[in-house]
Amino acid sequence: MTIKKATILGATGSIGIQALEVIEKLENWEIAGMSCFQNVESLADQAARFRPPRLAVADSAAASSLKKNLPAGYQPDILTGSAGYEELAALPDVDVVLNAIVGAAGLKPSLAAARLGKRLALANKESLVIGGRILMPLLRDTGGEIIPVDSEHNAIFQLLEGRQQEEIENLILTASGGPFRGYSTASLEKVTLEDALDHPNWDMGSKITIDSATLMNKGLEVIEAHWLFGFSYDKIKVVVHPQSIIHSLIELIDGSLLAELGQPDMKIPIQHAFTHPNRQNAVSDKLALTEITDLTFQEPDTESFPALKLAFQAGRQGQGYPVVLNASNEVAVSAFLQKRIAFLEISYIIEEMLEKHQPVDLKESDEILELDRQTRRKTKEFIDKISDK
Ligand SMILES: NC(=O)c1ccc[n+]([C@@H]2O[C@H](COP(=O)([O-])OP(=O)(O)OC[C@H]3O[C@@H](n4cnc5c(N)ncnc54)[C@H](OP(=O)(O)O)[C@@H]3O)[C@@H](O)[C@H]2O)c1
Repeated sequence: MTIKKATILGATGSIGIQALEVIEKLENWEIAGMSCFQNVESLADQAARFRPPRLAVADSAAASSLKKNLPAGYQPDILTGSAGYEELAALPDVDVVLNAIVGAAGLKPSLAAARLGKRLALANKESLVIGGRILMPLLRDTGGEIIPVDSEHNAIFQLLEGRQQEEIENLILTASGGPFRGYSTASLEKVTLEDALDHPNWDMGSKITIDSATLMNKGLEVIEAHWLFGFSYDKIKVVVHPQSIIHSLIELIDGSLLAELGQPDMKIPIQHAFTHPNRQNAVSDKLALTEITDLTFQEPDTESFPALKLAFQAGRQGQGYPVVLNASNEVAVSAFLQKRIAFLEISYIIEEMLEKHQPVDLKESDEILELDRQTRRKTKEFIDKISDK
């Protein structure tokens, strides 16, 4: 059997670590490259296990400290910075590039893999939120493909296989509702960082955990679904499903609802993204249907959780609004993680930044990343102003 090769961008994160567990258990896979940002000790441990010939890290300081942590006799090429991540994403002999970098930093590596017509196993939803308009046509031109790793999109990807767009009434993304499901705005005023980091169903990186608590994660996923599957925003619905057993659904025009069910375990969509269109034995626990007592569904509360509404609006508006939404969210979440702002201020800050934005037609990744940089700067200034009060 032929050996398949994967590159894991963001190997030291929650998705990256689980992807390596999957690869270890799948037959005939090896790792061609892996990356982290600054967490070089973890990357060194992982690299010692898998021995990929190439690694990438944030900068030369991280590279020299990585070298000191590698075992004697193992001397991989160490690439650095944004160009290093792009080079790693574009290795010629690689079958699947898993992009599990967090945030807008994932866009350029996604584009680099797409330019070579690769299979992109995409966890980095921000690539599509800010760059869907250029990433999707590029993939069509080069014959590349995205297999979504986000569990909702992975579910919809499987449900849509072999169907015509005219058969579909709606895509229905499920949302757990996060740790604050059912909270009023008044009770959200008192929540702490520790409360927000305590997600009921999923163990994830800190940024996406906070995005789940504000419902911005679902908002970003709505924009991701729009670009991935080519449906208008009117045909993308969100339903709160606290058990996270149904990962998403499609509604057909004849009234049939099709759903994908499984354990809330990211290793399942990660495995699928590697093996598609084939299947291999599960590396995770399977779902025992008889152990499920409740499957419940509710409308999302967009009054207490305005981030979802803001994301729908930004997606519909286009013209740079999704870039502003994403960049201001990244900066506001980071300020919340540093305890500089309160939970409710995250959405307030994003709304302010969206209101100040002047619509702009973005055709190139450099234009997108310039707007991303400007928005980060303005959001930081705004946070400095409100947190000084
Ligand atoms: N976690 C989940 O269950 C889940 C589910 C669905 C989708 N996703 C999506 O998957 C992506 C990764 O999420 P995660 O939870 O795995 O994040 P995470 O645990 O925070 O890991 C992020 C990874 O990206 C690296 N990184 C951080 N900043 C970077 C930068 N500026 N340039 C290059 N690399 C950078 C980190 O390296 P260091 O360790 O060195 O910082 C780490 O390897 C996100 O887009 C998220 O929305 C995650």
